[in-house]
Amino acid sequence: MKFGYFDDRNREYVITRPDTPLPWINYLGCQEYFGIISNTAGGYSFYRDARLRRLTRYRYNNAPWDCGGRYIYLRDEESGSFWSPSWQPTRHAAEDYSCRHGMGYTTIGSKFSGIEAHTRYFVPLDENLEIWQLTVTNRRATPARVSVFASIEFCLWDAQDDATNFQRNYNIGEVEVVDGVIYHKTEYRERRNHFAFFACSEPTVGFDTARDAFLGPYRGWDNPASVAAGQLTNSIAHGWAPIGAHQVKLDLAAGETRQIVFVLGYQENPVDRKFDPPGTQTINKTLAKPTIAKYLGQKEADAAFERLRAHWDKLLGIFQVDTPDVHTNRMVNIWNAYQCMATFNMSRSASSFESGIGRGLGFRDSNQDLLGFVHMVPARARERILDLASTQLDTGGAYHQYQPLTKRGNNDIGGGFNDDPHWLILGVAAYIKETGDWSILDEPVPYDNKPGTEEPLYEHLHRSFRYTLECLGPHGLPLIGRADWNDCLNLNCFSDTPGNSFQTTTNRDGKVAESVFIAGLFVHASHELAAIASRHGHADDAKCFLTAADRMEQTIKKDGWDGDWFLRAYDSFGEKIGSKEREEGKIFIESNGFCVLAGIGLDDGRAAKALAAVREHLATKHGLVVHQPAYTRYYLHLGEISSYPPGYKENAGVFCHVNPWVMIGETRLGHGDEAYDYYLRINPSAREEISEVHRCEPYVYAQMIAGKDAPTFGEAKNSWLTGTAAWNYYAIAQWILGVRPTYDGLEIAPVIPAGWQGFTATRIFRGVTYKIAIERKGAGNNVALTVDGAAMKGNIVHPPADGRKDVSISAVLS
Ligand code: BGC
Ligand code: NOJ
Repeated sequence: MKFGYFDDRNREYVITRPDTPLPWINYLGCQEYFGIISNTAGGYSFYRDARLRRLTRYRYNNAPWDCGGRYIYLRDEESGSFWSPSWQPTRHAAEDYSCRHGMGYTTIGSKFSGIEAHTRYFVPLDENLEIWQLTVTNRRATPARVSVFASIEFCLWDAQDDATNFQRNYNIGEVEVVDGVIYHKTEYRERRNHFAFFACSEPTVGFDTARDAFLGPYRGWDNPASVAAGQLTNSIAHGWAPIGAHQVKLDLAAGETRQIVFVLGYQENPVDRKFDPPGTQTINKTLAKPTIAKYLGQKEADAAFERLRAHWDKLLGIFQVDTPDVHTNRMVNIWNAYQCMATFNMSRSASSFESGIGRGLGFRDSNQDLLGFVHMVPARARERILDLASTQLDTGGAYHQYQPLTKRGNNDIGGGFNDDPHWLILGVAAYIKETGDWSILDEPVPYDNKPGTEEPLYEHLHRSFRYTLECLGPHGLPLIGRADWNDCLNLNCFSDTPGNSFQTTTNRDGKVAESVFIAGLFVHASHELAAIASRHGHADDAKCFLTAADRMEQTIKKDGWDGDWFLRAYDSFGEKIGSKEREEGKIFIESNGFCVLAGIGLDDGRAAKALAAVREHLATKHGLVVHQPAYTRYYLHLGEISSYPPGYKENAGVFCHVNPWVMIGETRLGHGDEAYDYYLRINPSAREEISEVHRCEPYVYAQMIAGKDAPTFGEAKNSWLTGTAAWNYYAIAQWILGVRPTYDGLEIAPVIPAGWQGFTATRIFRGVTYKIAIERKGAGNNVALTVDGAAMKGNIVHPPADGRKDVSISAVLS
């Protein structure tokens, strides 16, 4: 069952009924000001950091799920009835409801009692504000008098404090209302130099800034007293819950359309110019006023929207494909790339499942996110890499997370996730392959942000490499530490205390438990590092990296192999995990996927065997599960993985992040059909038809789909912010379609389904536009290239020596 449809031409998903199984959200903003918005206008906004600079309030874990938003109400002045064109919060049975989620904007509207209303919400480029463009049309045969109310509830900035510290919070709320603009200035009197504003393009007939006055006692957002009464009360908030609400009256002739713009924004003032006049407590509005005035203009708002459209045309234009499969096309061309932007911007901070207060930017996560993002805005990828590397410790280890506002490592979580350092190598490798910018390796970067400790980035990578060699266990495999990629495989935790964090509790010295996954990651990262070193004038280092990788590979083959597949780990008693010897958790996806991706066992049949075992034991119709059999009880020595009921999350759920490792592994074996089969099983668009089962948005990946052991097999959770976005993009673009940036040029190496006759693609790479046509003439994956009409040896196309900006490539597969 579907709740909408894809409008590919407009790059939109159109939701046609408001009662989606869960709120289906979109992101507004792509630089510093952000918001999430659901298909019924729920959500919130923040500046840079979803925890520390939250502009508007949202109530997670509410009933209904989605409460708190950018709510507009219309009231028919004749009948006194009122409703929300976005359905929520009044939930009237409106006609023609639609929500169009597009690239950085969302338009929601419907028709009720002959009045049609749509609001387009977006954040203009280079501004710290959002625009709500409301269009109201009177579809009646007679004139209509309506009141429009637009409302927002302010958050008192620190979202954690906002949700807990009521003894203080109910006293500190402050606002100003000047010239029809509502200014939210809680804590501005003391150490904050920022405030929020909420403005309206039309003359208003009333406002409210006190929630109690607006809603009335014992009433919710579905039934605000002052909307019901038809008149806002001009309340001024003193403490309690500051809100912003405007009221505009419209007289609409039959058929008449009117537009109103609302602007909600964030402004910082210089410390010495906070107040106007100086010495008072009144906000200095000099900087804010011109911005507000500008975007309240309908023309400016439209122009800003067009700029946003053009911005996305350009970003998405970097890689476009035309394949025989619509799901591939729309995910690659539109939604998967778009989701990669969201994960780059948000890391794992703000979604329907991440409350914005819990997590900073993950070291592991942010590095992997680069795989799907770097081609869009390489300069921002570069900056992110340097920020991440600056938090690296001089041991080569890494803080697991850092806070985006301070860019400092997060002490609460600390480090000791022994896979972390290697993702930096992969992030840097992806950046150099995309850009050819080798200078990044020479950038001086500190350790743990300590001035004076700067070394070239290359040295950081070297330390990442050494970190693992200094942390080897009894078999010569890498010690796992707190956890590896699987945050829930906590082999040194041994927690029997409810509420202990599995990720930070350690009750073993950590000298025994080893990870075969990290071993595979080490081999892969060391190959990358060797390729980097040899091209960057460090031939000796390159040799050393390759020797260590070879040694690790031998160790994996000796002590990391279970006979038919790769082991997952050794626990802190030295017992095997992911082995036939176990009753539960006999086979795991991570080590099998990653070892094959790293090329281990391609030469001796192990890789093929491992992936055959994965197919036999882990493949389900909804994707590949993490392991089998699921853990049926809590195991002290395994940690969080066994805390989840069978089939959920890391306990044998379909973790969509790791499925692409197997897809890539299959391409390395030359298995185009298998790789593509796995790709389609979790492709959100391909799952659109079963939206009532999948339940999350059909246009973006979710982190997890319940596995076959779960009562809700096939149900997705944690949509949007997941490494799934980058890895699936990377798998389909670079390994299945095989359009792959390398250090030396653009490699063309498709491993596509046997039934595909070919496909075409456009790839802008290092300033050159490559038009690529792939044609299948035989069943295999051998590639014969013709570049601008001339047959060529090999399959890497080097940047044109004569500076041409357009190159046409045709490839014959046989
Ligand atoms: C989740 C993991 C997550 C970890 C760290 C666990 O509860 O299952 O997916 O990585 O928390 O936040
Ligand atoms: C989500 C985390 O963000 C990611 O870092 C981790 O690898 C996976 N969960 C698996 O535990």
